[in-house]
Amino acid sequence: MKPHRLEVLPDTLTVIWEDLESIIYPSIWLRDNCPSGLHPQTRERLLDLLELDPAPQLLLGELHGETIRLEYADGHVSQMPVALLDRHRPGQPAEDPAAIAPTPWRAELSAGAGVPRFAAGQVLASDEALEDWMRQTARIGLSLITGLDNRIEAGVELAERIGFLRETNFGRTFEVISMPDPNNLAYTAEHLQLHTDLPNHETPPGYQFLHCLANEATGGGSFFADGFALAEDLRSEDPEAFRLLSEVPIPFRFHDATADIRLRAPIITLDRAGDVVEVRYSAFIAGMFDMPAEQIPLYYRAYRAFMTKTRDPGYRVAFRLEPGEMVVFDNRRILHGREAFDPGSGFRHLHGCYVDRGEFASRLRILARGRSAQD
Ligand code: OGA
Ligand code: ZN
Repeated sequence: MKPHRLEVLPDTLTVIWEDLESIIYPSIWLRDNCPSGLHPQTRERLLDLLELDPAPQLLLGELHGETIRLEYADGHVSQMPVALLDRHRPGQPAEDPAAIAPTPWRAELSAGAGVPRFAAGQVLASDEALEDWMRQTARIGLSLITGLDNRIEAGVELAERIGFLRETNFGRTFEVISMPDPNNLAYTAEHLQLHTDLPNHETPPGYQFLHCLANEATGGGSFFADGFALAEDLRSEDPEAFRLLSEVPIPFRFHDATADIRLRAPIITLDRAGDVVEVRYSAFIAGMFDMPAEQIPLYYRAYRAFMTKTRDPGYRVAFRLEPGEMVVFDNRRILHGREAFDPGSGFRHLHGCYVDRGEFASRLRILARGRSAQD
């Protein structure tokens, strides 16, 4: 957009944009963000804010084509790109190609188009297909990749199209098989109720990838639910339960021979606007509740209300992973589970890894470069 008119006062520049929206840019902000303060190659800020006058005085502001020339009383002259001021309007967060609003879903996701499916070959070969897959996965929180090679690294290669793997105490990648000496319920043949992985970590892993290499045992079906949908419904149906689950931290703990990883956090995390941004829930590794005694029965009531929803078929999609398929989901939003299986009846093997939300968002921004206005 182009400026319609500029108004200069010693401590502010006001741009009246073509749409007649009037935006005030304080002089300290303008001076701090003058492009001359950035290292020419790294684009990082070299300017030391403390070397500036706390209230730089503006003398002049003039539009010259694509830039606004600003003159300050200390002699500094800035060439501020109009596009920069347009993108960064104080009071309005800059547009972010990685900010994809989640679309909450319930059991109806099974009907209609179902869980979004993408072909491995296309995602590997084309950035357009990669971006399409990532955007849908961010929106729904869950997707399926089909047509993967029957190689242990085939799923990891797709995850690495997005970004670095997130290594955890279970390794860079992990094998989900029934093991003789398991340190984790996933490595048994037990039924796994809906959960998120690693809620005991300071930041639980973001996106999870489970590549199915074999699923020959009886049982072992997969099921998923949207934790954001569950939380939102709880907020309207039982506001007091929602309040306790979003305010009261509970301990989570994993420990084995080499690790003892603990964290106290609420089950539901809200951002400053009150939107649900994370669900952290695993009954397997919830520790012993440690709130004051009088709160314990109230908290249990709230916790059970959430738990009851995780058992409600009205929130679930269920399917059986076939060899060559990989399920991908936002582990900080989507709850996942699996039916018990009979290891005597056949082999079941998933190969798993994680990529954090920050890496995912970074790849989306890189893929959008050239198409969306970014600095
Ligand atoms: C896990 C898990 C699901 C499955 O590895 O964290 O939940 O289908 N596995 O085995
Ligand atoms: Zn799990």
